[in-house]
Amino acid sequence: MSRIVVTGGAGRLGRSLVGGLAAAGHEIVSLDRAVSDAAELDGVAQVAVDLTDADAASAAIAGARADALIHLAAIAVPFSAPEDVILRTNAALAVNTIGAGVAAGIPKIVAASSPTVLGYNAPAGWLPERFPLDEDTTPKPWNAYALSKHLVEQSLAMFSRQTGDATRFAAFRPCYVIAPEEWSGAPTQQGHTVIERLDDPALSAPALFNYVDARDVATFIDALLDALPDIPNAETFFVSADDALARRPLAELLPQFVPGSERLAAHLTGTAPAFSNAKAARLLGWRPTRTWRGELGEDEPAPPTGATADRTEPTRKDVLA
Ligand SMILES: NC(=O)c1ccc[n+]([C@@H]2O[C@H](COP(=O)([O-])OP(=O)(O)OC[C@H]3O[C@@H](n4cnc5c(N)ncnc54)[C@H](O)[C@@H]3O)[C@@H](O)[C@H]2O)c1
Repeated sequence: MSRIVVTGGAGRLGRSLVGGLAAAGHEIVSLDRAVSDAAELDGVAQVAVDLTDADAASAAIAGARADALIHLAAIAVPFSAPEDVILRTNAALAVNTIGAGVAAGIPKIVAASSPTVLGYNAPAGWLPERFPLDEDTTPKPWNAYALSKHLVEQSLAMFSRQTGDATRFAAFRPCYVIAPEEWSGAPTQQGHTVIERLDDPALSAPALFNYVDARDVATFIDALLDALPDIPNAETFFVSADDALARRPLAELLPQFVPGSERLAAHLTGTAPAFSNAKAARLLGWRPTRTWRGELGEDEPAPPTGATADRTEPTRKDVLA
């Protein structure tokens, strides 16, 4: 059991993460702007704090006396505030909280980035080197939110250059997070239901049909915290479901929404997703356990044709060797 301080613990992802980590036996302190009465936070220590205030962030994080810090707090939706506000807020939150964690001697520090760092939907056009997208795909952020998430990843790398391996860092890029209540019709982050996102591919296309169940993010974080001392420092991981949030193969859908992607996407047949979670599988031994078909009670088609496990990466055992 660890004592874990979570920033943004009252948010959409934070609630499920706090609930999942508490259920796994960890003791949690949630830091957020306001105390939440969400059921997942029942019995969890909560501190109301504005983490853009560096002194307040330092005091709250040091006061938590934690073994691990998970930083989620952010303006989490692109263009939901003026660009300068998003960049300034998310940058201040990252530097304040990660810096406070380092100063407090917390040995494991993890922060939420975003798949949007890759730069899809750029108005001037975008094509990746290849599909599926993975941690080696070149980040090309095109808006302040994506840039702020790139900065989160770079902040972790910056602090790791200060501390060396005395502190273990990692960034994770959760795909479009579906909270448990959203499977039964509650609105998702963009306001549509899951069924609406499936029925109208134009709604899921901006995220390239990616998704992950929030409870799977909790098991990912648990596995990551466990593995952190034994894997390379300041790594980045995609956290995604094994399949695409789509009723038709991405080989058909992606070219409709990503001009010029026909050849690159041609092998994304069956249920294969655009994003690979192979690195988390290989380095952490983590697998997602939930799919939209399983949660909605729809028939599972034939398994994907190898999109998540078709790259050769070192296993955790290889890295240790
Ligand atoms: N939900 C997704 O699909 C998704 C996808 C990729 C990345 N992410 C990232 O995951 C993290 C969590 O996302 P979410 O969907 O739960 O967002 P959310 O908006 O539901 O939660 C963010 C939380 O941060 C808190 N917060 C914001 N500013 C704060 C401040 N100044 N001081 C203290 N707390 C503050 C908010 O009160 C909120 O509870 C974010 O960093 C987001 O960028 C989310």
